[in-house]
Amino acid sequence: MTRYAHITGWGMAVPEKVLTNNDIAHMVDTTDEWITSRTGIRERRIAAPDQSSATLATDAALEALEMASIKPGDVDLIIVATSSPEYLFPATACVVQDNIGAKKAGAFDLSAACSGFIYALNMAAQAIQSGAIDNALVIGAETLSRFTNWQDRNTCILFGDGAGAFVLQMSYEEGGVLSAVMRSDGSGGSSLYLPAGGSRHPATADTVAQGLHYIQMNGREVFRFATRVMTQATQEAIANAKLKLEDIALIIPHQANQRIIEAAARGLDFPMEKVVLNVDRYGNTSTASIPIATCEAFNDGRLQPGDKIVFVGFGAGLTWGAAVAQWTGPVAVRRKLYLPLSYRAWAKARSILRRLMRRLEGLIWGRYL
Ligand SMILES: CC(C)(COP(=O)(O)OP(=O)(O)OC[C@H]1O[C@@H](n2cnc3c(N)ncnc32)[C@H](O)[C@@H]1OP(=O)(O)O)[C@@H](O)C(=O)NCCC(=O)NCCS
Repeated sequence: MTRYAHITGWGMAVPEKVLTNNDIAHMVDTTDEWITSRTGIRERRIAAPDQSSATLATDAALEALEMASIKPGDVDLIIVATSSPEYLFPATACVVQDNIGAKKAGAFDLSAACSGFIYALNMAAQAIQSGAIDNALVIGAETLSRFTNWQDRNTCILFGDGAGAFVLQMSYEEGGVLSAVMRSDGSGGSSLYLPAGGSRHPATADTVAQGLHYIQMNGREVFRFATRVMTQATQEAIANAKLKLEDIALIIPHQANQRIIEAAARGLDFPMEKVVLNVDRYGNTSTASIPIATCEAFNDGRLQPGDKIVFVGFGAGLTWGAAVAQWTGPVAVRRKLYLPLSYRAWAKARSILRRLMRRLEGLIWGRYL
């Protein structure tokens, strides 16, 4: 029997601290008008001192597990896609594994910059489809504010912190991740990179003095590259799933820049009403942007069981990719039936239930919540 990898849980975590464009205009020579018109970004979230990529990843993962109604002990594999890991090693995924108590899970980080979540989703889906595992946690988590030069107006306006997670579960029912494409072009590596702190340029007082531990970017080059590959990757992933663009209910793109997303939609001749956009509120959260946008699309009632959706992204490397999935929703895999309530009503009921669960957390879930 054919095995399918269904998305049965999703969660997100963003820091409470909001940094607006006007706040940044007090730090560097820029304006709210310039940032909004060039990028669509109005504000972003910044991690508190006690938050990190692993703490945000953990919060998002727990929400996703709760949504999928599976226990951490049932997770076989944790992949954390990140460009701002907790440490060079061990993997952020191992920190998450310990935090949530996923005792039988393998765990590793995946480095493909902002395309990382699509790469990780594909890897986890393949592992489920092959029969190697049954349940996976796929997480995108970032605290890029820690690698941002807050005196560089070219980059500091763009990035934000946050995490998003999916639970993937095996089912024999058709659906879940249907296709994916992953591409790279290492010759464009210097368009967007963090030069120091690795084996090429280990951290020294000198690299720090030169600011080589901060993100460096050629914005125009990245912009040109992004608009080209978003369209291509989307078309390829749809064709690989043996679908047509008309079959797609929603595109959930990497949230880097509203102009890039609009250019890609124009290139595809796809209506913007069917494209998820939240870059205005979070900026570019790199690997976390696609799962965060998915959570919000679900909460807004924009995802219905059976919908075919596209995730598409690009990033440093250069890397890019897309995946097509058929939306299942929570519990459908486990119980093999769809919830009778509308998804919007279900989301509301879920949030009330979650509040109740939190009150009973010590009793019911022990250390897992
Ligand atoms: C970064 C980006 C917003 C810049 O917009 P742009 O229209 O390309 O602007 P340019 O780089 O051409 O710069 C135009 C001018 O604005 C200036 N400028 C740059 N940042 C500025 C800012 N925050 N405020 C005001 N002026 C700024 C530049 O110095 C330049 O001035 P100059 O012409 O005197 O040299 C845009 O290139 C972009 O979004 N690129 C993609 C980046 C991205 O998505 N990275 C993440 C990939 S995952």
